[in-house]
Parts: sequence; C-alpha cells; structure tokens
Amino acid sequence: MRTLLALSALAGLAAATLPAYTVNRPVIRRDSRADAVKEAFSHAWDGYYTYAFPHDELHPISNGFGDSRNNWGASAVDALSTAIMMRNATIVNQIIDHIATIDYSKTGTMVSLFETTIRYLAGMISGYDLLKGPAAGLVEDSRVGVLLEQSKNLADVLKFAFDTPSGVPYNMINITSRGNDGATTNGLAVTGTLVLEWTRLSDLTGNDEYARLSQKAEDYLLHPEPARYEPFPGLIGSAVNINDGSLANGHISWSGGADSYYEYLIKMYVYDPERFGLYRDRWVAAAESSIAHLASHPSSRPDLTFLATYNEENQLGLSSQHLTCFDGGSFLLGGTLLDRQDFVDFGLDLVAGCHETYNSTLTGIGPEDFSWDSNGVPDDQRVLFESAGFYITNGQYILRPEVIESFYYAWRVTGDETYREWVWAAFSNVNKYCRTASGFAGLHDVDAENGGGRIDNQESFIFAEVLKYSYLAFAPEDEWQVQKGSANTFVYNTEAHPFKVYTPQ
Ligand SMILES: *[C@@H]1O[C@H](CO)[C@@H](O)[C@H](O)[C@H]1NC(C)=O
Ligand SMILES: *[C@@H]1O[C@H](CO)[C@@H](O)[C@H](O)[C@H]1NC(C)=O
Ligand SMILES: *[C@@H]1O[C@H](CO)[C@@H](O)[C@H](O)[C@H]1NC(C)=O
Repeated sequence: MRTLLALSALAGLAAATLPAYTVNRPVIRRDSRADAVKEAFSHAWDGYYTYAFPHDELHPISNGFGDSRNNWGASAVDALSTAIMMRNATIVNQIIDHIATIDYSKTGTMVSLFETTIRYLAGMISGYDLLKGPAAGLVEDSRVGVLLEQSKNLADVLKFAFDTPSGVPYNMINITSRGNDGATTNGLAVTGTLVLEWTRLSDLTGNDEYARLSQKAEDYLLHPEPARYEPFPGLIGSAVNINDGSLANGHISWSGGADSYYEYLIKMYVYDPERFGLYRDRWVAAAESSIAHLASHPSSRPDLTFLATYNEENQLGLSSQHLTCFDGGSFLLGGTLLDRQDFVDFGLDLVAGCHETYNSTLTGIGPEDFSWDSNGVPDDQRVLFESAGFYITNGQYILRPEVIESFYYAWRVTGDETYREWVWAAFSNVNKYCRTASGFAGLHDVDAENGGGRIDNQESFIFAEVLKYSYLAFAPEDEWQVQKGSANTFVYNTEAHPFKVYTPQ
C-alpha cells in the first residue's frame, strides 16, 4: 500500500510531463477522493455535534434533533468505527467520552433488540476490536476498555428478551418493566441478525451466555419447520413463532424483513469456519436456490437481473428494494470465499441491476422501492421502464448504504475500477443532493428535480455505512479492508461495523 501511495504522489507531480491518459488513472485521484469522503464525514459530525449531540440524530434542515433509538446517542455510537478507520482521534475521543456516560438501563421508549444490537452493541464492540487491534495507539489504550464494559452492560439489559418458551426473542421490549409488545411472531431478519454480535461479545468476555442465547434462536432458522415454508432449499419464510420456533409463513425474499438473515449466514462462516460450517451450508443452499428460482429479468431489459420474491401461492413478486441491494455484496463475499465463480458472476449481475436503479434517475441515486412487473407500470413511468427496466414505487432516499456497499464489495473482489467509479458517482450525488448546511438530508423523490425536496432527518447509518463504504473504496490498504478469498481478518456486521474474525486463543 505504501507503494501505491508513493506512486500516486509521483504520478501527481509528473502529470504535466506525461501523456494525458496518465492524468486520468484512478490511482492519482484516490487520495483526494478519500479526503473528500473524510470531509463529508467531518461536516456531518460537526453539524450533529453542534445541534443534536447527545441525542440520537440530527434534523439537518431545521437543526433540531430526534431520539428514535432510545436517546442513547445513536449517531455518536454508530459513527465510532468510521471515525477510527478515518483515524480521527478528536472525534473518536468525543465518542468514547459519551459512551462512558450512557446508562443503558434507562429509556422512555420501547427498545428494538435488533436495532440496538446492530447499531449500539456492534458499534461499541467494533470500536473495541479496532482500537485493540489495527488502530491501537489512536487514543490512549486506557480509554478503550469502557467499550467492552458498556457492551456487556447493554447485553445484560437486553438479554431477558430471549426468555421465551422457545428462546426466540421478542424484538420490541420494555427494559423498565422487562415486558414486551405482546407479539406472537418475530421477523426472520431481526431474529437472524443477532448472532454475530452476541457471539463476538461472548468470545471477547469469555462468558458464553450471549452466544448461547443468540445461537439457540438461530438454530430454529437453520433447521426450519414446517417444510412447506422452505419451498426451495435454504429459502425460508419471513417470520418465526416465538412460542415454538416454527416458521409462521412462507413469504420468501432477500428484502427488508428477511435480508440480513441471509447476510449473516455467510458472515458467521467468515467469523469462524470451525464453528459455523452449517451456516455456510445454509447460505450456499439459499444462494443456489435464489439463482435457480428468484433471478428475474425485466421484460423491457432482459440483460438486467434482480431478485424476485416468492409467496405461498407459488407466485413470483417482481419488486425489490434499496435494502435488497446488499445481495450483490453477499454473493460476492460468499463467491470469493468459497471459490465459486458462479456466485461471483451472479453477484456482479445483481450489482449491475442495482447500479441501473441509481444511474437511471435524475439524481443518480436509487429509490427505496421499485418494480419490474410489466402489468403495473404507471403511465408517467413508461419511458423509465422501457429504458431502465424498472419503475419507482417509492422514490424516497433515506441515506441508505446497500448499493454503495455492494459496489465496494465488487471493487474489492474484482479489482475492476468500474465499481470504484460507481462508488464515487453515488457518493458525489449524495453530497450534491442531500448535503445541507449542517449534515445530510433524505430525498422525497430521487427521480425529480433536486430530489423532489428534502426530508429533515439524518439516519445514524450515514455515519456507520454510507460514508464508511465510500471512504474504504478510496482509502489505503488496511487490515480491515474486505479481502479476496479467505483472507479476511475482519467481518462487517449489517450496520458496517467491522469485527475481528475469531482466532482461537
Ligand atoms: C477530525 O474531525 C474534526 C471534526 O470534524 C475536524 O475538524 C478535523 O479536521 C478532523 N481531523 C482530521 C485529522 O481529519
Ligand atoms: C415500560 O414499563 C413501565 C413500567 O411498567 C411503564 O411505566 C412504561 O410506560 C413502559 N414504557 C413503554 C414505552 O411502554
Ligand atoms: C450513468 O452512467 C454513465 C456512465 O458511467 C455516466 O456518465 C452518467 O453520468 C451516469 N448518470 C447518472 C445520472 O448517474
């Protein structure tokens, strides 16, 4: 990596005397692009810190704040791992100071086990792994221990959620009364997106309780019943009964509600191939079934590939979401790891499909929901459907990361500069259309002039994900960068917080 940096500096100096094509080589622009993303991160941090800290999120138009995540400072905790990877000690110290003061036993609102796990618990664990590992020395080592202590405190507050007849947790809990919202089922994604965080916490603390609780719940998903709700090997229904762990429906998708269950199957195998071989097998089954049964090509653009949904009446649903666009990255991660070129190729097809949803709109940013069902095309979107292969069913953009995330995986796995250019284009458009005086706002309609106006909210995941994956595409080589094959020493949770992969003591 030093070699690359040195080359880029030289190339910059020599640009005037070299043929024009040299000037455009991406390696020359890499540092300035990384700096541009850091600048965007600092801009968002400064606005949040001035107007909203220690609340959960900034309202970036009115300069007010929201507390959608229990008022523990979600944006600060979610920003920690990115600030560390950008090596900004000032921000890292501000966040650690805050984390030390959080009382996770108190909040006035119901707590989502899933959201709290992926943002707060993972943010702190990741900060610990990074500052005890490749980012050691960025801040005083004596300040790092609180991240693990607070992770343990938080999990101890949350763990009663698993105290159900089956061990499948409630997702919405009242930590004051140790009650819940009375749900009878839990979602596939929210049940299946705990195991990485809770297992890592056990491996770091030596207390296996957290791993046991999360893996017991996950076991129902790995051995699903009844069989009719697994219509194709590995693809399972989107809800699970809290009472007995059986599946509650046969709605199949990689979209919101199901998505990160599939994401974590292969990531658990990255985390520890010894313990999580079954998770790999289930991901492989799901991936093969998806290629065979869910791959779908718009009638107007048969060259494009999206993943359809599948219902209990054995019908495909020809619609998808921004959220679903993590799928390309998941196929690329699994494909490179397992040396399966068919998965890599399919992953790149999915990445290209999601790129189309960005590249075809007026803002160059993709919509929240879209469809390619030729039966439902609205008249005013005929032209879009004919040319781009999809039409928009919800045009909002709320600062989601999944498309940039999959571009990043495509870049890391193939080394093809095209994907880095796609990251840059997406980041540039977010910077252009979403940026306000104090941060970044959502858009009402990605296919309208100026995004159809702005939404006065800045989700914490702009810090954790959008700006992290954008930065990593142009950042120096580092231990935490996604690697080809089985070389990964870090694995990213669904909120883009990297955890150190397990190494036997
Ligand atoms: C760190 O972030 C602060 C606050 O946004 C910013 O002012 C400063 O320039 C950054 N420092 C570095 C070294 O990037
Ligand atoms: C949680 O439980 C406490 C104690 O029973 C109650 O006072 C409070 O209103 C509940 N909170 C919510 C958000 O339901
Ligand atoms: C679409 O992609 C092309 C080629 O990469 C690029 O020149 C163009 O600016 C993109 N359009 C948008 C709206 O992003």
